[in-house]
Amino acid sequence: MTKTVVVDRVSVAYAPDRPVLRDVSATAWPGRVLAVTGPSGAGKTTLLAAMAGILRPAAGSVTVDGAPLRDRDHAVAERVVIIPQDNGLAAILTAGENLQVALIANGVPPTDARRLTSEKLERLGLSGQADQLVEELSGGQQQRTAIARGLALHGDVLLADEVTSELDAANRQRVLDLLHDEARRGAAVVFATHDPEAAAACDAELHLIDGRAELVRE
Ligand SMILES: Nc1ncnc2c1ncn2[C@@H]1O[C@H](COP(=O)(O)OP(=O)(O)OP(=O)(O)O)[C@@H](O)[C@H]1O
Ligand SMILES: [Mg+2]
Repeated sequence: MTKTVVVDRVSVAYAPDRPVLRDVSATAWPGRVLAVTGPSGAGKTTLLAAMAGILRPAAGSVTVDGAPLRDRDHAVAERVVIIPQDNGLAAILTAGENLQVALIANGVPPTDARRLTSEKLERLGLSGQADQLVEELSGGQQQRTAIARGLALHGDVLLADEVTSELDAANRQRVLDLLHDEARRGAAVVFATHDPEAAAACDAELHLIDGRAELVRE
């Protein structure tokens, strides 16, 4: 079940001839956490979107275990889970429903989906929020709900985009521990972050500046 994602000399452009990622290479290994760092606008979210099959590179390739990623459906079939920077939750559903809907859509039987939902919400300190509407949760509670959902989906690859930006120190540490736990069970984890301390605790780091990989620690 372990998978390796290889980003090989990838360029991505939202508009023709205006690449926001240029010639970026990186490898996400199973059992390891790769930090993607760099200033705002450097291209971290864009890189994760390419690794999730959401954006197609203009040049270069993203492969999962050697097979070029075709699109988001292909990535989902390969169990590539993304926790997006804007959390991606349905605001008019409860925290619990957000997890259950995602799990059931991924083929998890309803009883297991209910069990996993309370288990993961509890891990993120959200047992009391399960029946609360997402739009009524604080920013940090919403962020933790999105993380709980991402963890519940049990990806072979987990792409976590700025998932600690709204959290206090204790919750930030809890989330970092959970990301490392995911790697320990064999997932390839990629964590985009502004936080140099969090990045230093990762197994490897790719530092982006203006769409280019400026520093790679492997
Ligand atoms: N949908 C889009 N259409 C056009 N340009 C975009 C789009 N999304 C991002 N960009 C541009 O691509 C560049 C990289 O953006 P990206 O979101 O990947 O940066 P980031 O490193 O994740 O930044 P942040 O730390 O603020 O989240 C930026 O210059 C941004 O303006
Ligand atoms: Mg971003």
